[in-house]
Amino acid sequence: MATSESVSVRVRDVHLSFGSNRVLRGVDLDVPRGATACVIGPSGSGKSTLLRTVNRLIEPDRGDVLLDGRSVRGDDPDALRQRVGMVFQQFNLFPHLSVLRNVTLALRRVRRLGEDEAVAVARAQLELVGLAAKADARPAQLSGGQQQRVAIARALALQPQVMLFDEATSALDPELVKGVLALMADLSAQGMTMIVVTHEMGFAREVADTVAFMDRGVVLEAGEPARIFESAEHPRLRRFLSQVL
Ligand SMILES: Nc1ncnc2c1ncn2[C@@H]1O[C@H](COP(=O)(O)OP(=O)(O)OP(=O)(O)O)[C@@H](O)[C@H]1O
Ligand SMILES: [Mg+2]
Repeated sequence: MATSESVSVRVRDVHLSFGSNRVLRGVDLDVPRGATACVIGPSGSGKSTLLRTVNRLIEPDRGDVLLDGRSVRGDDPDALRQRVGMVFQQFNLFPHLSVLRNVTLALRRVRRLGEDEAVAVARAQLELVGLAAKADARPAQLSGGQQQRVAIARALALQPQVMLFDEATSALDPELVKGVLALMADLSAQGMTMIVVTHEMGFAREVADTVAFMDRGVVLEAGEPARIFESAEHPRLRRFLSQVL
């Protein structure tokens, strides 16, 4: 059992309803510092909603999310979203701004860097995701995979403690998926704490320290990838895996 000091993200008995729709019904999830947790499960099981409670895009009705042992409820939401970066399926880049501006905007607004420093940090971060040459392009001039790497660079530039990925490769053409997954695997190997909602079972098996299976608003089963993929206990998880593998 991990001690509270070594756990970076601790989701505790989180409940959330939209009207009469009980979307999260007591979710528990621990992600140790530096670990990668992959969240898998059927559509509508609450995976995206769970991620959104971690950076307070949405407030749980009950339960809590702790970052380094402290409730996120005590945090200013803007400050929290700097510490918890999020990458979405649909990139969410500003189409009218260059790649460079997309990254410097967050640096100036959130980290309050001056123009020169923001540009320097943004260029360095774009270099790290292999897109230094695209700094002056508009998002529409990039492939989906390149746009997603910009979105990842933008989140990383804020120096988050935790990164959340919500089906970051689902909108990409198959040949572009690999590059983005490789970048995410690198980030995981470098010790970033990550929660990754994904349908990429190969990625979950290779990269995750923990795989959590969500079904109807709860984590039904969680464990090391080898155990989850080879000897899942819960029939519902076995059925899910037989459909996706
Ligand atoms: N803002 C919202 N208002 C009302 N209902 C919502 C809202 N967001 C999500 N829901 C509902 O919550 C449930 C869970 O949605 P969620 O997006 O978390 O599922 P998911 O596991 O991410 O599914 P998918 O794999 O399709 O992305 C669904 O029934 C959805 O319709
Ligand atoms: Mg989702």
